[in-house]
Amino acid sequence: MSKTTQDVRSERIGFLEQSEIRAMTRECTRLGGINLGQGVCPLPSPPALLEAAAQAVREDLSTYSRFDGVDEVRQAVAEKLAHYNNLQVDPETEIVTTIGSAGAFVCTLQGLFNPGDEIIVFEPFYGYHVNAIRVAGCVPKVVTMQAPDWTFDPEDLERLRSDRTRAILVNTPGNPSGKVFGREELTLIADFCKAHDLLAITDEIYEYLVYDGQEHISLATLPGMFERTITMSGFSKTFAITGWRLGYVAAPAHLAEPIGLVNDLFYICAPTPLQHGLARALKVIGDDYFDEIRTKYKANRDLFCEALTRAGLTPHVPEGSYYILTDVSRFGLHDARASAMHILEKAGVASVAGSAFFASDGGRDLVRFCVAQPREVVEEAAERMQVFR
Ligand SMILES: Cc1ncc(COP(=O)(O)O)c(C=O)c1O
Repeated sequence: MSKTTQDVRSERIGFLEQSEIRAMTRECTRLGGINLGQGVCPLPSPPALLEAAAQAVREDLSTYSRFDGVDEVRQAVAEKLAHYNNLQVDPETEIVTTIGSAGAFVCTLQGLFNPGDEIIVFEPFYGYHVNAIRVAGCVPKVVTMQAPDWTFDPEDLERLRSDRTRAILVNTPGNPSGKVFGREELTLIADFCKAHDLLAITDEIYEYLVYDGQEHISLATLPGMFERTITMSGFSKTFAITGWRLGYVAAPAHLAEPIGLVNDLFYICAPTPLQHGLARALKVIGDDYFDEIRTKYKANRDLFCEALTRAGLTPHVPEGSYYILTDVSRFGLHDARASAMHILEKAGVASVAGSAFFASDGGRDLVRFCVAQPREVVEEAAERMQVFR
């Protein structure tokens, strides 16, 4: 049927709605609440990074770079991958610098997948993943993880697989669950991929935020996995630069090449002065910085989880990331949006309805709080939650 000028939405995005997270932010502003909804991460960035980027702007490093990023940034990312992730990659052919890890996912989907291809995702999921898969014409197949540890039944992987299945997506540490996939689970996923010749896509954006002795493991480091894995990450969260839009893909050259082609087509390159700033800063920012943010976020997690428990709610204490999924069935509403609104109206704290992260009704008694906020903001929110005691 032909479209009119009134009926303008493409079929690709026909199902899309403005995310619940943004809607909650609007309500929060209207009611003057503390926003623990959206993961904007308004924390100070490392001064060395800010100075290096300002310097790159002053040096007028302002023209397009290579489509996959400036040499220095690819080199710095390769060094970081070897040092932190135990992953050896060739910076010349196996890294694409992208517009955040969101851009990495768009390029991966457009570069490697056809409409109708099925991609397995774990629920609770980051809504962006599922929506981006659908906009690409692909089909998300959902494996449900079970609270409180967010374990999954390996048989579900087999049950969901069809001859259209092309890949499995693993987000570790996870948003919103905070789950850190352990070696045993990753080995199981790796065996599944190898047995059925599937690709693996990982979203490791919270890789530095792991607590309680948990270890971040990149799936690509498991035997036989590098050649079939697209490792995505970025610097938004690590350096509190969500607006800079710097991320990357690391993948074997035969996968990085089509991903880079799309990156070139859609974006040409990531912002060049910021790439230079990042490359220079990565040389001087050491492990002590990563230890420091881990300690800070863990302290926020502990403070807020303790406050939620005191208030009679049940947090699923996350092993990683900075989100806290919380059981709010005590309110008896059994509707996540209504529960989130109830919390905002009564306590003046905004959260995100758990239903945003589920295809099933598994999220109806959950809300998600984001504690990537200055300590005093988390303290104030923790205090406000005590109205529910
Ligand atoms: C799991 C996950 N992946 C990706 C992103 C987006 O990251 P970026 O800013 O690098 O695009 C987010 C942001 O909240 C996220 O939670």
